[in-house]
Amino acid sequence: MTDTQTQTKLKIFSGIQPTGRKTLGNYSGGFRQYAQTQEVGEGFFCIVDLHSITVDYDPDELRSSTLDLAAMLFATGLDPERSTIFCQSHVTAHAEAAWLLSSVTSYGQLGRMTQFKDKSENREFIAAGLFTYPVLMAGDILLYQTDVVPIGDDQRQHLELARDVAERFNYRFGETFRVPDGQYPEIGGRIMDLQEPTKKMSTTMSSEQGAVYVADTPDQIRKKFKSAVTDSEREIRYDPAAKAGVSNLLEIMSVATGETIDDLVARFDGSGYGDLKEAVGESVVALLTPIRERFEALRADERELQRLLAVGAEKARRAAEPTLELMYDRMGFVRPDAGRFFGAARPRGL
Ligand code: TYM
Repeated sequence: MTDTQTQTKLKIFSGIQPTGRKTLGNYSGGFRQYAQTQEVGEGFFCIVDLHSITVDYDPDELRSSTLDLAAMLFATGLDPERSTIFCQSHVTAHAEAAWLLSSVTSYGQLGRMTQFKDKSENREFIAAGLFTYPVLMAGDILLYQTDVVPIGDDQRQHLELARDVAERFNYRFGETFRVPDGQYPEIGGRIMDLQEPTKKMSTTMSSEQGAVYVADTPDQIRKKFKSAVTDSEREIRYDPAAKAGVSNLLEIMSVATGETIDDLVARFDGSGYGDLKEAVGESVVALLTPIRERFEALRADERELQRLLAVGAEKARRAAEPTLELMYDRMGFVRPDAGRFFGAARPRGL
């Protein structure tokens, strides 16, 4: 590949938290899109461990769930040869960028983030980091001069904030960042809780029966779908605005099999809810079983996971450094090694 081709390659960045067990929602809005987008550009996929300390957590669990998530990213199709898979805390530019960007982030806008409001509700202690969380996320994205951010619907507001931060920085200090676009799945951008279909399926907020985990066994998956809440009408139809159980099941099946919603509605025309629930359960078993098997094999070799993460961190450091240097420079900081970055190493087009 020539230099110009490398320079024009689409830059893709996404992040995922290493807290708890990853759900079918994370698969639909996250993992699935990561594996697809790595095919069309240069992908950076980040285990955002620094984000995970903003709510109550257990240090030992963080250590082990970070490796779980690394194994899960590879098991769902990320290729370490092709993409950069790394831990946020291994690349110090992320924490530095967050501080610098906090000077161009609006306090009022941070207070309007629905995730902050949801996660801080009814808590005795609210960490300042929970409030500034979206600034760190903006830094994650902007450091890589990202074109596209594949995410689920629940991250839309954070992505809009990252765009505002980029624009404000560019306006205040001169053109520095590419303003990124979000990429949301057409179907499955917001998978709902199986027990409470008006709420999103969530690692932290869903009940055991309400969330399907990527590493669940076939029996667990079948049981969860069997007890999924459906609607009061008997007809199987798709109405996503109603946030109803049946529409959610249809979306899940479409994600699992790749069939369109229209085809599924036609197929289940005249069937009962029991048949639909069973079929959706089986389609998810077929989707997740090979992933769980790969996950278990990869998770067993921690040294290899650590090695792959070290390789990823090195690549990420190199990719992020020119933008961080440019930020410091534009903001008027005297650098210890002035001049080093001004030449070929500048980020694309700047
Ligand atoms: P996180 O870790 O909560 O979720 C990871 C990805 O999964 C998606 N997702 C869902 N998609 C569909 N239906 C659901 N029920 C569902 N639940 C979760 C999320 O939208 C996300 O794409 N703040 C981010 C992590 C982050 C990040 C970033 C993302 C930090 N820095 C930079 C992109 C770019 C988060 O907490 O995602």
